Amino acid sequence: MAKKLYIQTYGCQMNVYDSARIADVMAEAGYDVVDAADQADLIILNTCHIREKAAEKVYSELGRLRRLRRPGAASGPLLAVAGCVAQAEGGEMISRAPFLDVVVGPQAYHRLPELVAQAEGATGKAVDTAFPAKSKFDALPDPHVDGRRGAFLTVQEGCDRFCTFCVVPYTRGAEYSRPVVQVLREAQRYAGVGVVEITLLGQNVNAYHGPGPDGAEWRLGRLIRAVAAIDGIARVRYTTSYPADHDDDLIAAHGEVTELMPYLHLPVQSGSDRILKAMNRRQTAASYLRLVERLRAVRPDLALSSDFIVGFPGETEADFAATLRLVEEVGFAQAYSFKYSPRPGTPAADAAQLPEAVKTERLAVLQCLLDRQQRAFNDACVGRVLPVLIDGDGRKPGQRVGRSPYLQAVHLPAPASLLGKITDVRIVSAGGNSLAGVLAEQGTVATAAEVPG
Ligand code: 5AD
Ligand code: SF4
Repeated sequence: MAKKLYIQTYGCQMNVYDSARIADVMAEAGYDVVDAADQADLIILNTCHIREKAAEKVYSELGRLRRLRRPGAASGPLLAVAGCVAQAEGGEMISRAPFLDVVVGPQAYHRLPELVAQAEGATGKAVDTAFPAKSKFDALPDPHVDGRRGAFLTVQEGCDRFCTFCVVPYTRGAEYSRPVVQVLREAQRYAGVGVVEITLLGQNVNAYHGPGPDGAEWRLGRLIRAVAAIDGIARVRYTTSYPADHDDDLIAAHGEVTELMPYLHLPVQSGSDRILKAMNRRQTAASYLRLVERLRAVRPDLALSSDFIVGFPGETEADFAATLRLVEEVGFAQAYSFKYSPRPGTPAADAAQLPEAVKTERLAVLQCLLDRQQRAFNDACVGRVLPVLIDGDGRKPGQRVGRSPYLQAVHLPAPASLLGKITDVRIVSAGGNSLAGVLAEQGTVATAAEVPG
């Protein structure tokens, strides 16, 4: 009988992708994925280390899961920690949580079947946080694809930029770009089973420079064109970008590739040049604005999203005001903002920290402005007809949920036969986080879905 695997995923889209690939690897070892931890023979926490208390949360979750081990039973579910906390903490995790069986880093999970077998054996523990010379991608089986219409596809991993706040270069390792042929084969496989939207993933995805079949090095713009040309692929996205790595061809692609969606996550972090320099971001507010201008020149309807950090060491009121000014100037459709959180081992962690109250206050001010912008962007969609990829059921009977080109959730009444299709939807109302609409061709008769929340 197949063994059962439960995976809990934290953090970014790459972890979502990795969890799917972990399921592929473990399927080969005879494990089926289940959606409840208490049914599992093996539980994997695929963890994130980007911000505060990540490791603490993992330890407390492990403590909770440990109770699934039946009292007195020699075996219960095996417990494994994967992802960036595993990478950062390594074997230390087993000292702190002696009941933990496997610790596996983001570049070593293709070895999970061996590690699990080892943990089941006499020694009882297995740790692998190596950065192997040979990429895990060369060892992974073909991805299993369920009925999803959107797929993530990692094309680049790791980061060489070393922003002074960020753990990624330490947890994910050096920049690596998958070969073009491997990426296209995976994209074709998704297209072959009905996937219509592909999001190319990388920690610094626009640093992509994979070896091409022609022997030349391909940058991201060229890769996007090739993925967009695959039959059945109607939408392409990419995330996350480092603004200084946007080259001319990638900018041009936004104007030329109709499948490339007019929505871009382009983290700026701060609007103060002094803070950007302290963050080692290799960009200024002016160079960011110039990039936005160039992108909008080729794709006027481009909507932007960003990440912000407030309360970085040394950030003054004037620096923060510069961030607010930049936000006003760009006008974001969506954004994430965070208080600076010192990450052990990163350069900025040793600097004097701002008082928590200052961080809290600035975050509230920034989020208020960003929420207003998001609301204004959503409101501006009302009355427009947007192509929506309908990819799920809503809460009420007859309701579906889809995604606009700008990644907004759109609720609408629609027949199940439209699941997986890109359909014109007239937007009739907007909320803070989502839109509601009706099928465009029957816009006057149907009742619109409500925008939840
Ligand atoms: N503190 C706060 N936010 C951080 N981020 C990354 N590291 C930190 C940190 N130490 C944010 C950045 C990044 C996003 C993924 O997480 O804004 O773009
Ligand atoms: Fe981290 Fe992104 Fe900077 Fe790389 S570019 S160090 S992943 S914030």
